[in-house]
Amino acid sequence: MDRPLTILGIESSCDDTAAAILRQPVEGPAEILASVVYGQTDLHAPYGGVVPEIAARAHAEKIDLSIEEALVTSGVTLKEVDAIAVTSGPGLIGGVISGVMCAKGLSASLGVPVIGVNHLAGHALTPRLTDQVAFPYLMLLVSGGHCQFLIAHSAEKFTRLGGTIDDAPGEAFDKTARLLGLPQPGGPAVQAEATKGDPKRFRFPRPLLDRPGCDMSFSGLKTALLRQRDALIAEQGGLTLQDRADLCAGFQAAVVDVLAEKTRRALALYLADAPSEPLLAVAGGVAANTAIRAALETVCAQNNVTFTAPPLALCTDNAAMIAYAGLEKYVAGQIDDMSLAARPRWPLDQTAPALLGSGKKGAKA
Ligand code: KG4
Ligand code: ZN
Repeated sequence: MDRPLTILGIESSCDDTAAAILRQPVEGPAEILASVVYGQTDLHAPYGGVVPEIAARAHAEKIDLSIEEALVTSGVTLKEVDAIAVTSGPGLIGGVISGVMCAKGLSASLGVPVIGVNHLAGHALTPRLTDQVAFPYLMLLVSGGHCQFLIAHSAEKFTRLGGTIDDAPGEAFDKTARLLGLPQPGGPAVQAEATKGDPKRFRFPRPLLDRPGCDMSFSGLKTALLRQRDALIAEQGGLTLQDRADLCAGFQAAVVDVLAEKTRRALALYLADAPSEPLLAVAGGVAANTAIRAALETVCAQNNVTFTAPPLALCTDNAAMIAYAGLEKYVAGQIDDMSLAARPRWPLDQTAPALLGSGKKGAKA
């Protein structure tokens, strides 16, 4: 590269409207000059899940604002933008369309390329943005909407080793919180309760551990928790604070065990090709869970594999990761034009069998 590149990133595939400005200097790592995220949690909270219609309207309302804020924060003007990277799938289609239309409009008026980015590629390439990680590495995406193991061979080539066949773990944490009267998002609340509880008092199922492979299932776990909760209520007329903490601890222990064992299996598949610098990166909101993180770190240490997790703000949905994935495509000459379409489904690994279920946050692949 003979001059610095400035990329505007736009993300609107789920319940966060985000814009970012990324600068790639001639030498050295890319720099995030601004990363703005407008979350929609409050808008969806009364409905117990993301409402696609509400999400689409909120994106349309906030998208200009987030771009403007990213420009002001970074001190970059639209004239300095070399390309516009936008999430063009997978996700809730109304939101994806908002982003793609906005990006195309800007591309046409500024005369710069538009680049359609796969949202999952954004997550999967984040360790390269934050830690300049070399290919191939193993990636675990674990959030409210995603749960899959990917080997990242290059910016375009990913092998999916397995994923959830129903709920994502974040969804399971959120549903557990709801069943126990804890606040949303459920993950941090359940984790806090779990630290006060006995993980051995209730033994919840470890779904799919009896089957080979890296696929996972988390929806049965919340049903088991619901049954246990109702049994306690029927027996005692209610739940004590200790019951609640013990239920959370038992639930979290089950998620930890499943993720740890499936990570062991995914690592075995990844290591079979003898990568020179073996590394597992984790991304997604659930990566904030200290018990899950500790278990993954242990599995990695046992296998002599480096463990890395990007800072949380870059683990959850954001536009800096979209700008970065767009930068990798731009450098490879992969730009789009006005025919760029919004895609509700877009598996990163086209050869892997389709994932079942789409969960509260839309398509997972
Ligand atoms: O990546 P993210 O923003 O997800 C999507 O929007 O898909 O992550 C949000 C999810 C929520 O389901 C939240 O409950 C979960 O990540 N989460 C956690 C923790 N912090 C956030 N789950 C478990 N433990 C945590 N400490
Ligand atoms: Zn995401």
